[in-house]
Amino acid sequence: MKALILSGGKGTRLRPLTYTGAKQLVPVANKPILWYGIESIVAAGITDIGIIISPETGEEVKTKTGSGEAFGARITYICQEQPAGLAHAVKIARSFLGDSPFVMYLGDNLIQDELRHFIDRFKAQQMDALILLRAVENPTAFGVAEINDRGQVLRLVEKPKHPPSNLALVGLYFFSHQIHSAIERIQPSARGELEITDAIQALIQSGQSVEAEQIRGWWLDTGKKDDLLEANRIVLDTCLTISIQGEVDARSQVIGRVEIGSGSQVRNCTIRGPVVIGKNCHLENCFIGPYSSIADEVTLIDTDLEHSVILQGAKIEGIHQRIVDSVVGQRAHLKAAPQRPKALRFMIGDDCQIEVV
Ligand code: DAU
Repeated sequence: MKALILSGGKGTRLRPLTYTGAKQLVPVANKPILWYGIESIVAAGITDIGIIISPETGEEVKTKTGSGEAFGARITYICQEQPAGLAHAVKIARSFLGDSPFVMYLGDNLIQDELRHFIDRFKAQQMDALILLRAVENPTAFGVAEINDRGQVLRLVEKPKHPPSNLALVGLYFFSHQIHSAIERIQPSARGELEITDAIQALIQSGQSVEAEQIRGWWLDTGKKDDLLEANRIVLDTCLTISIQGEVDARSQVIGRVEIGSGSQVRNCTIRGPVVIGKNCHLENCFIGPYSSIADEVTLIDTDLEHSVILQGAKIEGIHQRIVDSVVGQRAHLKAAPQRPKALRFMIGDDCQIEVV
């Protein structure tokens, strides 16, 4: 069995972060989202992995992720010139996939369930497609399945205005080679994309075996800022272990599950976990509250924050009003005046969101 991870697309919903980088490389608990998918595929025993990349962000994905050796896998990068849809991505990966069955993983999804159980079922029942479903509150934002009382899939629709159920399609699919001929039979949707949802619907219509399973663990689609913060919260809650490699001085207090990377210095700070701090950071006179992820080379001085994600090389100084529910991009610099400011001075890029509350 092979795997195909989709890491192309435009990432418009995570702007401005995605002006300068791939959305699949945005970190959750200091690890690119994409790498969670690779790790879970390898854990299921699949080592031949194709990754779809875009011309804009593909080089960054390749440079950071590498040949796959670090994950115990062999990665083949496949460039998709245009984000012409999930089924289009499968189409251009045909020479990599051959006639092999494969797992398709959307590179911006995080799924807690282990893959092995699904793969065993898919193989044992010789299915042509196994899709995973999850009840959601906003089905119009997803592909949606209509199933009968025996759990059989009757119909699938992509982002319907009037959803037939609240069961969203999770971004993890298992396919036999039959999906390729189904893709040949579909046309681009109203949004101009070749939809994988339509290809699976074509499989259903031609009487091939399409099964669905509702997942039990958490599933996160990290498309927007709040989803990203929620993913960060859940991963820190479930996956973080205590590890202090940097230097923490005697005036500092580290409480709960906290990870501090090598070369980082913590002076006169209170850190209340779960918190992850990367390598070579400098923290002084700060309160870092639960559910914060601080990437490598970040400087935080006289600053209080919680439930926030701070990306690599960012610098924040003098902000003791607590920063909450925030994402601060790479190398961004925030600085407050020592006294209550009389004026605010900004240099803010396109699509940023600032709330002075
Ligand atoms: O997250 C689950 C949802 O993912 C499903 O419920 C939907 O049925 C499915 O269509 C998909 O919807 P999204 O609108 O969230 O897909 P998005 O455009 O965000 O693309 C998902 C991933 O695939 C993302 O990592 C970018 C990548 N991609 C996307 C397109 C359109 C590609 O690599 N190539 C593409 O052409």
